[in-house]
Amino acid sequence: MNNDRPARPANPNWGGRFSEGPSEIMERINASIAFDQRLYAQDIAASKAHAQMLVSQSIISAEDGGAIAQGLDTILREIESGSFKFSAALEDIHMNVEARLRELIGPAAGRLHTARSRNDQVATDFRLWVRDAIDTTDQLLQDLQAALLDQAEANTATLMPGFTHLQTAQPVTFGHHLMAYVEMFGRDRGRFRDCRARVNESPLGAAALAGTSFPIDRAQTAKALAFDRPMANSLDAVSARDFAAEYLAAASITATHVSRMAEEIVLWCTSGFDFIELTDAFTTGSSIMPQKRNPDAAELARAKPGRIVGSLVGLLTVLKGLPLAYSKDMQEDKEPVFDAFESLCLGLQALAGMVRDMKARPTAMAAAAGAQYSTATDLADWLVRMLGMPFREAHGVVGAAVAHAAKAGQTLAEVPLDDLRKFEPRITDDVYSVLSAEASAASRTSLGGTAPERVQAAVTEARQRFLAGESA
Ligand code: ARG
Repeated sequence: MNNDRPARPANPNWGGRFSEGPSEIMERINASIAFDQRLYAQDIAASKAHAQMLVSQSIISAEDGGAIAQGLDTILREIESGSFKFSAALEDIHMNVEARLRELIGPAAGRLHTARSRNDQVATDFRLWVRDAIDTTDQLLQDLQAALLDQAEANTATLMPGFTHLQTAQPVTFGHHLMAYVEMFGRDRGRFRDCRARVNESPLGAAALAGTSFPIDRAQTAKALAFDRPMANSLDAVSARDFAAEYLAAASITATHVSRMAEEIVLWCTSGFDFIELTDAFTTGSSIMPQKRNPDAAELARAKPGRIVGSLVGLLTVLKGLPLAYSKDMQEDKEPVFDAFESLCLGLQALAGMVRDMKARPTAMAAAAGAQYSTATDLADWLVRMLGMPFREAHGVVGAAVAHAAKAGQTLAEVPLDDLRKFEPRITDDVYSVLSAEASAASRTSLGGTAPERVQAAVTEARQRFLAGESA
């Protein structure tokens, strides 16, 4: 390849060291403005906090500080109204803002970068952005929990089969099943909360890597930006991206939970299950098969971990083996986080939408709940409780009875008492009281169990634990 000659002048931000501009390919690989313009609000807020601190520490004059603050406000308005012209030649959001500030207020703009580097600047902006992303994610998770709680409360006594190995295992209630996800999403919120505490420290004032000789007040800027404290080590402050990796890890686990529930929705909508119905609002048709109603939103929510987990692995791979302190590799930290955040938000909103939209089909669910010898454990428990039989022995007796019923084409409740007695002569008529799916679910009153009154209590308790302080 021959070198393409740069037609551009040197970047004024590099000062006298450069006499020529970058090659076109250098500019393209280097520029991040196409994606980091998303940090504009954080960048401007952090610059305002920094300028204010420089004034209170008498590092710059109040007059310059005032001009900088006003100029930054103007830039914020320009960006938000869409009139701001982003330039790839100015590389990133930080230099785009600073260059415009110089146009607006003149040489005073050059004082803003005193005691600061783009290294602590970008780390600050990105932490502020991730902090907002965490708060948005938490809101969406809470909203999803609210949808699940409403649907669970409407279905505390709706029977459905519980599965292990996706084989019918024991009857449960639909409400109980939905409440399992309320707990999962509750732990997801806890992970984001933990992550937020580590995100919320201020790198600002670490400067390029070593700190600064100016008498800055890092506590002041940290406070102005609602960080809990300044980061303790300047090298760490500009090098750390574990906060972003941690967000992606929490997002990956959450996306996995979304995916599991989305898969269940897909299954429940099939004719084989027929447990729920989604309306036109959350299904699509087929361009060729007129009868089709496809759960595309559930399928896409099921797929989102592909990109979200991919983002986590991508970022960890970028960070792996990086020496301290800043390296340009770290510019590759943002796109995975932006993409994962968007994907996760959509997945969470789609799932909440489907949970609100879905209608249980109680007749089909109850029929499936009672099929496939789902109350065999109840029969074994009856033998243990009434006859004092060791559970292992009861298990063998019931196994034989199920084999017999299957051969005779009967459900357990349909096997005549005389036939049951062939397997255990002490069985009485009372046994039939435990063989229905309804009785089975109702009997499971242990803590965390599926009995309808337990589920109702769980809903009430979870509303307190997860939705108290809800804005809506
Ligand atoms: N755009 C850069 C990034 O996202 C900002 C920091 C640049 N720092 C530097 N020393 N070149 O990482």
